[in-house]
Amino acid sequence: MSKVHAVITGIGGYVPQYVMTNEEISTLVDTSDEWITKRIGIKERRVLKPEEGIGITYLAGKAIENLRSRKNFDPLEIEAVIFATSTPDYILPNAASLIAYRTGMANAFGFDMGAACSGFVFALEVGQALITSGKYKKVMVFAGDTLSVLTDYQDRNTCPIFSDGCGVALLEATTDEEIGIIDAVLHSDGNSLAHLHMLGGGSVNPASHESVDKKMHFIWQDGKIVFKRAVTEMAKSCEELLKKNQLTKTDVQWIIPHQANMRIIEAVASRLDVPIEKVMVNIAKYGNSSAGTIPLCLWDLEPKLRKGDNVILTAFGAGFTWGALYLKWGYDY
Ligand code: UT7
Repeated sequence: MSKVHAVITGIGGYVPQYVMTNEEISTLVDTSDEWITKRIGIKERRVLKPEEGIGITYLAGKAIENLRSRKNFDPLEIEAVIFATSTPDYILPNAASLIAYRTGMANAFGFDMGAACSGFVFALEVGQALITSGKYKKVMVFAGDTLSVLTDYQDRNTCPIFSDGCGVALLEATTDEEIGIIDAVLHSDGNSLAHLHMLGGGSVNPASHESVDKKMHFIWQDGKIVFKRAVTEMAKSCEELLKKNQLTKTDVQWIIPHQANMRIIEAVASRLDVPIEKVMVNIAKYGNSSAGTIPLCLWDLEPKLRKGDNVILTAFGAGFTWGALYLKWGYDY
């Protein structure tokens, strides 16, 4: 008998309506459309306008509405909700419980996962493990962020990059060996705190007048170090995963990388010796919504995917966290 494993049976996504252009960023910091386009590859990004009571679960609610318009499922059959985010609505309760309650997933237990930009890949691995255990059959995986709330719009090292958006994937049990999540290679390195962080608001530096004055509630990064590690680790984890699964680059139909910088994406493709046409990219219009970028790519470019396609997802983010996941796409559009 074939083994039970997990397959993505539907994808939904949502980005805020407000389009923040490079021209607008250029009015905030000393930069230009030309520099951002050339050095980052972003033309515009979506940003949630600060409105009372609207945060990541608002985007998640819209994303699941979008999923329901494409895929029939009974919310009461969902047994677990995983929400990969660094920007939950509140420190507590978690975003997963809120979205499960609001969307009728009343029988699910829910928890948030903090793995920054690697969140979707890490959450898929955990979701598939729940299903492969045989105990659960339907798991809803949300991944997204509202990085605009953590962005210092006076810092040109970060504000052109970050954006808001949320995706959602329905994971279901299957015994069909031609589809589903096959394997993952995931890593963390906590020795990188100095290079990419937001130091305020946690247990070491709880919110205070001082933490606000010191801008501790914004993300800070050493862009060059992050850039180099992102290229090296995403390429290495993809190579490790391909080797482990006896795949060559020609067996792979799609690479879907985290969308942080077009030059990072191109460098990873070049190291893997994969033509850029095989790499899914939508960074120009949506920017870097952290955990949201990979599911938003799947959602945005879903018509390109065919049932059984070999797909490699790869991500890198704060922690550092990184890795790659191999799946066979589950359905035709
Ligand atoms: O998903 C979260 C993880 N984050 C990332 O993956 C981000 C990784 N890092 C990056 O994407 C890039 O390092 C940045 C986009 C942050 C910076 O790009 P860069 O090509 O690494 O720029 P740089 O820091 O090497 O600076 C090159 C030049 C400098 O000027 P000089 O010293 O050569 O005169 C900078 O001052 O570009 C200047 N510069 C800018 N100029 C216009 C840096 N940022 C900007 C800017 N606009 N926004």
